[in-house]
Amino acid sequence: MEHHVEELLNEMTLDEKLGQLTQSRGGRSKDLNSLVDDEQKALVRQGRIGSYLHVAGAEFLTELQRLAVKESRLGIPLLFGLDVVHGYRTIFPVPLAAACSWDPDAVEQAARLAAEEATAAGVNWTFAPMVDVARDPRWGRIVEGAGEDPYLGAVMAAAQVRGYQGERLSDPNSLLACPKHFVAYGAGVGGRDYDSADVSPRTLAEVYLPPFRAAVQAGAGSLMTAFNDIAGIPMTAHQSLLQEVLRDRWGFSGLVVSDWNAIDELRAHGVAGDRAAAGALALRAGVDMDMVSGIYEQDLGRLVETGQLPTAVVDAAVRRVLRVKHWLGLFEDPFRYGNTAREQRVILSQSHVAFAREIAGKSIVLLKNDGDLLPLDKNIENLALIGPLADDRKAPLGSWKALGQPDDVVSLRAGILAAVGPNTEVQAAAGCDLDGDSTAGFAEAERLAKAADAVVLVLGEDDDMSGEARSRSRLELPGVQRQLAERVLALKKPTVVVLMGGRPLAIPWLAEQAPVLVETWLLGVQMGSAVADVLFGDVNPSGKLVTTFPVGVGQVPIFYGHRNTGRPASTDPSKDSARYIDAPIQPVFPFGHGLSYTTFNYADLEVTPPEVDAGDIVQVRCTVTNRGKRAGDEVVQLYARDPVASVAQPVQKLVGFHRLRLQPGEAATLTFNLPVEMLGYYDAEMSYRVEPGEFRVAIGASSADVRLDGSFRLREEVRDQGEPGSVFSRVDVTKNSAETPPLDSDAKLQP
Ligand code: BGC
Repeated sequence: MEHHVEELLNEMTLDEKLGQLTQSRGGRSKDLNSLVDDEQKALVRQGRIGSYLHVAGAEFLTELQRLAVKESRLGIPLLFGLDVVHGYRTIFPVPLAAACSWDPDAVEQAARLAAEEATAAGVNWTFAPMVDVARDPRWGRIVEGAGEDPYLGAVMAAAQVRGYQGERLSDPNSLLACPKHFVAYGAGVGGRDYDSADVSPRTLAEVYLPPFRAAVQAGAGSLMTAFNDIAGIPMTAHQSLLQEVLRDRWGFSGLVVSDWNAIDELRAHGVAGDRAAAGALALRAGVDMDMVSGIYEQDLGRLVETGQLPTAVVDAAVRRVLRVKHWLGLFEDPFRYGNTAREQRVILSQSHVAFAREIAGKSIVLLKNDGDLLPLDKNIENLALIGPLADDRKAPLGSWKALGQPDDVVSLRAGILAAVGPNTEVQAAAGCDLDGDSTAGFAEAERLAKAADAVVLVLGEDDDMSGEARSRSRLELPGVQRQLAERVLALKKPTVVVLMGGRPLAIPWLAEQAPVLVETWLLGVQMGSAVADVLFGDVNPSGKLVTTFPVGVGQVPIFYGHRNTGRPASTDPSKDSARYIDAPIQPVFPFGHGLSYTTFNYADLEVTPPEVDAGDIVQVRCTVTNRGKRAGDEVVQLYARDPVASVAQPVQKLVGFHRLRLQPGEAATLTFNLPVEMLGYYDAEMSYRVEPGEFRVAIGASSADVRLDGSFRLREEVRDQGEPGSVFSRVDVTKNSAETPPLDSDAKLQP
């Protein structure tokens, strides 16, 4: 490979080199392939384009590849990129939802199936996974990531990279992954998209970098820089993070691409006076490929020719682009990806759709279930289905739909109709618009609710209210949905509130007044089926929140892994403490929260050995028993804390988790194998270490529902081992023989 790359480099003109560093728009995200005109084709023939984005389709891409390979002087194949973020045509739950499954195997599988479909359609590069830690629900792009926690984020990042890239990048169904947006994109001030992040080096290293570290360790072949600046240095020109951290420390040898037009936007940031200066800044910093600004192609040649930009800088970037093309096997067989027969066979295939239903079911979070109102009886006589999203077939597709079609989607209404018995009457009314101010539909909604035996009220946000450039300054339900809910809830009918959307909403009043609350997010093509599975008990809910639900926007940012302060928040108003005078300090729902139709008992904590040294693994063991009458999955969570350290530590840190399936009455022993080097932090000199002394561990059903706690001691200091995102705990499970469960007819529903 290296020999071939050097050979090519020797032959390439400067224009051809800059062409390799250029990614051109082949279409728009809503109109793929639409921009590849004759002018573009001429550029491909001249070797002036290295990659296209927003393109898809086996036939179209095979032809475009043919132009590059057969009609350009050097025949270098093109990379074809698309945002395949949660599915290609079979759309899976939005990433925030999928993370609530706490099931990395399922998340990996979703990425695998997406890769199968996209590569059949000729796409060889996805701009995913999005691994930005997000602690501000105002930020619309919170929907694209795995939530607020760096450890969970790192696990999910690695799972997705494995899923997209498969076993070998050169397999014809492997898709080049591109973790994004490097880095701290989720930390924009005010929750505004694209805005400045002013995070400390420690927070960067402990919170925002770990998912990227994990993605790189999992073998990601490319990476995208973020739009934001960090304390004044735009990430598109951030030499120290791109060079010293990403390349030197982590050994990343793949290709770095800018975000959309971000190189040109260095002028608006105010760090470059003209386009050429912007291009030079980005290339020198280590951004190898220019997404759509055209600056590398149009403006850098002059700088190289006049000696202002060394050829070596251009060559280094070209090498990385060519290597990635090699890794994908494109020089060997440039046509290995698109295949119309495979396209026909795999896209939206039955097994993919079935998996979409399965992972959607795992992503649903039961927030509240007073009086065990759920699951509903399938033979209920009269069910009222109310709300502006109840029959929406577009909203479930979420942000980044790739080839997703509303026609493929099972709406909630369709899912419920398919689930209920033949004698059940389902009456539906929107009640109001998603975001208008008309209350004209309230009367009809009330009429249906009054006549019904139970009400399913579907509220929230659609696909267009979260995602890129979709930040909100308020976190309440849009429009008059709250008033609609108040009117319906006032009838005191058995009412199940289903919340849809791509961000945690501020719904303290709803959490209090609705007897039942189910967070369903935006679940993809099988949304309605999956929601019905849960509402009627065919699937026992098991998702757990990956973001804290705030009381209101004033609490934001709020996350479980905070520090204590010298005056920890107190409920006593006479004390001056870290709290508000006009709002509670507790969130509405904490990180890790999620209920089940069964109950789990936690017992017998054992922490061994009681004293450890560097290189040791602490074993934290407990027994979890399903005490209820239904089979169910519990996500068991392990948190740790270093109570006395030279740098104040978060009150809790997730360091392990396991999703466990238990039959009624069944028990299992879980052993968390926790490497001690995971328990460290960056000290005052920013070196990573674990200080000796006592460590506390806690096992819980959520960050606020700790069931067992214990401790151990570290005898000696551990230094420079275990950078966050590079080391994970492992869980071993032993199923114990079942205790005698009081089985009833309910249990039979749950094999
Ligand atoms: C987004 C990226 C995306 C790119 C290409 C940008 O606006 O920030 O996440 O990959 O467009 O569609």
